[in-house]
Amino acid sequence: MPSVRLLPLFCLLLVLLGCATPTTAPPPSESLYERLGGQAGVSELMGRTLTLAAADPRTRRTFEGIKLKALQESLTEQICALAGGGCRYQGETMTRVHKDLRIKPSEFDAFVEMLRQEIDHSGIDSRAKNELLRLLAPMKQAIVSP
Ligand code: HEM
Repeated sequence: MPSVRLLPLFCLLLVLLGCATPTTAPPPSESLYERLGGQAGVSELMGRTLTLAAADPRTRRTFEGIKLKALQESLTEQICALAGGGCRYQGETMTRVHKDLRIKPSEFDAFVEMLRQEIDHSGIDSRAKNELLRLLAPMKQAIVSP
């Protein structure tokens, strides 16, 4: 125990040590799925992204004749499974469902850009946005054709 005369110095040292300890934001208590707005929020986000992608000249060719409502539901279920929402994704693997579509890397990038744009308009915070994009990025390999 420091002597009484050294006590102020000792306290100052403790405060300085406390300041030097790196602080990281505490982990969020809600799942990513909840932070994305749950079933309603994710479904709306996917619906808006698909509407854009089906109309955009960079991506629309792939969506001709595709039932967007069913695709929206499947995508929502997949995000729910990936983001801790407790769903079980029951659709096809990413490789199998996209193989014959011959999606180019530039089309994938344009799709993700539209998703990013819709997230920015939705009020979802940037931490949740980045977490979602980090989950989707590794799928590019399976989705695009060389
Ligand atoms: C990270 C990006 C993507 C994810 C997570 C994703 C996910 C999915 C899912 C879950 C399905 C439905 C599978 C099923 O129900 O069995 C699907 C189908 C489909 N995806 Fe993707 N996809 C992505 C990127 C793309 C891109 C970039 C395009 C086109 C530019 C695209 C076009 C399609 C189409 C047209 C279908 C429907 C195929 C059919 O019904 O035969 N996807 N995707």
